[in-house]
Parts: sequence; C-alpha cells; structure tokens
Amino acid sequence: MRIVHTAVELAEIEPAGSGKKHGRRAVVMTMGALHEGHLALVRAAREAADQVVVTVFVNPLQFDDDADLERYPRDLDADAALLEPLGVDVVYAPSVEDVYPGGAPIVTVSAGTINDVFEGEHRPGHFDGVLTVVLKLMHLTRPDVAYFGQKDAQQVIAIRTMCRDLNVPVDIVAVPTVRDADGLALSSRNVQLSQADRADALVLSRALAEAEEVLAEGGPLSLALTVARAAFAEVPTVTPDYIGAMDPVSAVAVEGDYRGDVVIAVAARVGGTRLIDNVIARVGPREGVADA
Ligand code: PAF
Repeated sequence: MRIVHTAVELAEIEPAGSGKKHGRRAVVMTMGALHEGHLALVRAAREAADQVVVTVFVNPLQFDDDADLERYPRDLDADAALLEPLGVDVVYAPSVEDVYPGGAPIVTVSAGTINDVFEGEHRPGHFDGVLTVVLKLMHLTRPDVAYFGQKDAQQVIAIRTMCRDLNVPVDIVAVPTVRDADGLALSSRNVQLSQADRADALVLSRALAEAEEVLAEGGPLSLALTVARAAFAEVPTVTPDYIGAMDPVSAVAVEGDYRGDVVIAVAARVGGTRLIDNVIARVGPREGVADA
C-alpha cells in the first residue's frame, strides 16, 4: 500500500493493468477516523475493482462550525493500519494546501435545491463544500467507480445528482449503513459521546425502526413520522434538528399521504455531538402489487 500526500505523487500512479485495457479503479473518499462503516466501503470496492484508492482528507469547506472542524478526530497511522490488511493500493492523504493551493476556491460546485432541505437547511454551505471536494478528488484520483455510505443518504443523492447534471463519468455505489449490535449507526463522531450520551443516542435508530415498522404494516407516512417524533419526545436530552422523509432520488421533502420509496432521515444533537441516521422504506405497496 502506497501512502502519498500530494497530487503530483498521485498523478504518477498508473491505473492497474496496462495500455488501453487498464483495469477498473475504485475510490473510497473519507475524512479519516475510520471505522467498520468505512471498511465496508473499502471491502466492497476491493471486491469489484482492480485498484483501490482511499482518500483521507478532513475538508474544511464542508464544515459550517469551526469548533466541529477543530475537534474532528484525525489519526492517519491508525487509519493506514486498518486499510493495509484490506488490500488497498493507494492512500491519498493530502494537506489542505495540496487540495486548495490557492486558498479557498473561487469557483465551487453548488448543490442547488438540495441545500434547502434536511442537512442542507441545517448546515448552510455543507453540500457545496462536499460536492466541491468530491469533484476535485474525482479529478485527482480518476476513478471508474466511487463508494459512499448510505448513512449520509442526502450526500449520496447530492453526489449522484452532480454526476448526472455535470456529466461526471463515475459510477456511484451506496453501501448499507453498518450498525453496532444495539442499532447505533457507526460514525466517526461516536467517539465524542459519553456513556450516557451513547445510551441516549439509541433513540435515533429506535425512532427509525419504529417508523419502518409502521410502513411495513401498510401504515401511512404521516403515522410513521408521528411515531418517530414521539420516540424522540421520550428522550428530552436529545434535541432533534429534523425528523422527516425525502424522495430517494431528488431529496425533495415528502409527507402526508405520499406513496412510494422514501428515505426517512433524522438528525439530532446528543450532548455536544450532532448525529444523523436514516432508513430506506416503501410507503404503500410495490408496483404491480395491488392494495389489499
Ligand atoms: O462522507 C464523508 O466522509 C465526506 O463528506 C467526503 C465524501 C469524504 C467528502 O469530504
């Protein structure tokens, strides 16, 4: 496994294979502080591609809160130790100066209306920062396919939309969320939770599971969201930013008597830590299956 820190070194690495018949290159973009969720992305990439590049870069452009950026966990040696046994070929771990040599970029990517809802609404500028760095990292790593975690459902939608709208020739694969045995979605931010916070944080996955159950039994979306909100109301130490449902392709908010596939998404503050989680579900019967 080669660890490189500059775009120049990265550019010198040839794709696997030779000549016109070079193999498939996959990228897994991360901000480090790797956990089993990231490793699931790397394993999926390793299985499907000839060459796997992992990027480790805490992107200042996507943080709307300086304190959050400051305390984001960073440990490249620990990350590399997790990646090496998985057969990763290249780790690109650049400095901020290497990614943004002229300082903050003048030209950036806009997530458009995806900025108006859910994470976009609560973290102004976040998705513009994500899309700008993702596009740059795609140019720098030149992948055929990129793997992202379904836990960041709206991020996956934003990246797919960017690739479609700007003709970026990279396949986007979303990998299911990895959870602890008690349901908590793995996140680099979980290390910031005290023991009491961690117990409280279980309300995120519990609320989603209860909403999912309502839909599985044929209930309406409005009831599923009511049930999820009621679960949060029982844990007053956790402050939700939102509990809602979005269209899985456009991220447009849906509610009421909507029928079809949805992402039910939640974000909440637990102590000083902000967590997100989601599930993909179906409201109403699948196509071709009549109502009972
Ligand atoms: O999901 C993340 O870790 C980040 O948003 C990403 C995609 C690596 C861009 O900085």
